[in-house]
This record gives sequence, C-alpha cells and structure tokens, in this order.
Amino acid sequence: MTYLPADSRYDNLTYRRSGRSGLQLPPVSLGLWYNFGGVDVFENGRAVIHRAFDLGITHFDLANNYGPPYGSAEETFGRIMAKDLKPYRDELIISSKAGYDMWPGPYGEWGSRKYLVASCDQSLKRMGLEYVDIFYHHRPDPHTPLEETMGALDFIVRSGRALYAGISTYSPEQTRAAAKILRQLGTPCLIHQPRYNMFDRWIEDGLLDVLEDEGIGCIGFSPLAQGILTNKYLQDVPDGSRAAKYENQLHWGDKVTQTRLAKVAKLNEIAQARGQSMAQMAISWTLRLPTMTSALIGASKVRHVEEAVAATHNLAFSDDELAAIEGILAE
Ligand SMILES: NC(=O)c1ccc[n+]([C@@H]2O[C@H](COP(=O)([O-])OP(=O)(O)OC[C@H]3O[C@@H](n4cnc5c(N)ncnc54)[C@H](OP(=O)(O)O)[C@@H]3O)[C@@H](O)[C@H]2O)c1
Repeated sequence: MTYLPADSRYDNLTYRRSGRSGLQLPPVSLGLWYNFGGVDVFENGRAVIHRAFDLGITHFDLANNYGPPYGSAEETFGRIMAKDLKPYRDELIISSKAGYDMWPGPYGEWGSRKYLVASCDQSLKRMGLEYVDIFYHHRPDPHTPLEETMGALDFIVRSGRALYAGISTYSPEQTRAAAKILRQLGTPCLIHQPRYNMFDRWIEDGLLDVLEDEGIGCIGFSPLAQGILTNKYLQDVPDGSRAAKYENQLHWGDKVTQTRLAKVAKLNEIAQARGQSMAQMAISWTLRLPTMTSALIGASKVRHVEEAVAATHNLAFSDDELAAIEGILAE
C-alpha cells in the first residue's frame, strides 16, 4: 500500500506560533508515549499516524524510552517514516527527548552531555532520521550543572542533530535559568513541555508567566489525564484501556477514582451543552490559554485523533462555562 496524504490536510487546523520563534505548531500534536511500542499492533499505530497527518497534525512527539520496550516507539515511527512519510519530511516536526532512564550505568539517564549526545544519536538511528526538529531535556537533573545540560542541547543543535532545543517539566525558576543560558549560547529555548490538564494545573502558578516573558512556547502533555478526562471510564474500566492494561497504576498519579469520575460526569454535562464530547472539552480548555501552543495528546484509535482535531473548531468558552468548570474542579 502506498500512502498518499490527503490534499485537504492543511484545511482543518489553525497553527499557532511557538512563543516568539519562527516555528508554528498544530494546536493538537500527537505523542507516541503509549500505543506505538513493540507490544502494540503496528498497523493500528500506522493508521493513527496517517489519519493525524491527513488532518493536519504535523507534529509527532517521541522520547528515547517510549514503548514499551524502551526505544520501540522510535523504531515504529522510523518504520512509518521509511514506508510512508519520507517524502513529507519537510512538512513534519519530529521531536525526541532524553532525561529518564534509558540504558544501564551512569551515562544512561539524567542530564550529562555524555548521555544527551549519545541518546540523541541513538534516537536518530532508531527513527532513520538525519535530524530531529526539537530535542528536549526530558526532566531537570538536580546533580548536573545546568550549564552542562544546556551546553549539550546547544551542541546538539549546532552539530545538526536537532533544529531547536526544548525543556520539559522544568520549574519556573529552572526555566528562567535554562532560558538565560541557552540565550547566551545563541540557541534560544523554543518550547517547554509541561503536563497540563483540568486535574493538574501547576503551570498556572508561575510557569506560564515565565514562558510568556521569555517568549518560549508551551506544549501541554496529557490534556486528557491519560484518558480519565473523557467519558470512557464513566461506566466501567473497558478492556484494552490504559487503566485496564496497567491495572490503574498510571504514571503521574493518574488514577481512575470515584471522586474523579463524579467530577468528569458533571464536566461531561457542560461539554454536551457546548456540543462537545468530554475529551473535546478537555482539549479545548487547555487551548484557551494564549500561551498554549499545542495540546499534546495520545491516541490508541483513529477516532481519538479525529475527535481531538474537531475539538479545535470550538475553542471559545463563556465566562459562565469557565466558572462552572472551576466550581466542579474545586468540589
Ligand atoms: N514530557 C514528559 O515528561 C511527558 C510525559 C508524559 C507524556 N508526554 C507526551 O504527551 C503525550 C500524550 O500523553 P498521554 O497519552 O498521557 O495524553 P492524553 O491525551 O492525556 O491521554 C491519551 C489517552 O487517552 C485516551 N483517549 C484519547 N482520546 C480519547 C477519546 N476521544 N475518547 C476516549 N479516550 C481517549 C486514550 O487512552 P486508551 O489508550 O485507554 O484508549 C489515549 O491513549 C505522550 O505521548 C508524550 O508524547 C510527555
């Protein structure tokens, strides 16, 4: 099968500028943390990526350890690049990261120059790419001098392995310090990738102000709290869902609990009144922030991507809707 992207692929989304950079991103980007690993069905992941690109999602987000097993999401993506997307490389923004544990020993995690450069080279090899568009430091390292980690990002960009540098889950203070070093080095920080959803709003407490001030874009991950901010868990925990597969032991403390489901049921009523699904309202809500460049979703099905793209056609919230959402979240 030869994949031909839809001619209409740029008719669906309004792209947003990442901070004060020259780069625009789609309001919805697709991450390959789950559902694209060696344990997953290749053709399903391939269909999801095709549909995403057909609908104008130009940005695919990876990391060295996405899978499982580690590295396998990048291998899957590399196969899809080779089979289908190679002719469209210049239409794609592909990112990867290093920071979490990837290989054994002292050079396989955190923030040393040794780890970051080696990991970036491994990622390029797995994906069959000459360069990634964005390379991130995945999480702050309390033991490595920030100058070394930012120096490594600068080197990765200058050596042609990446076009832009980014940071993920850095606090407001760490972000300010990282941005300063990167600016001095001549490789400005393009984007910050923090977690942001209705249940996890830490970025409202200082980070957004720093990003605005520094002209750094923001791509908020897990806008659906890994699926909890949808209607999928309202009746039960369906087979094949992330909560079922991982026995409700999800990263970042995302648990399907009765307290959360009671809130989601009420939020779902507001979503319906807006003519949206719960998932769509959760995505639109993150995009209400002017600093938010893109909502970084995950998807196990083609229809998840379709729903997310459709969400961007209904982004305006009335004051009453916002107040009602705040009320439910504060209960
Ligand atoms: N920088 C970091 O430290 C970091 C950390 C985590 C994630 N990320 C990035 O963020 C990306 C997204 O994270 P995430 O997967 O947690 O995002 P998410 O969008 O909050 O959750 C995605 C999951 O929600 C469910 N879902 C999606 N659309 C749905 C719909 N319309 N109806 C019902 N269920 C729906 C699916 O779950 P099922 O699989 O159950 O169907 C899907 O796998 C990752 O792939 C990664 O790129 C970055």
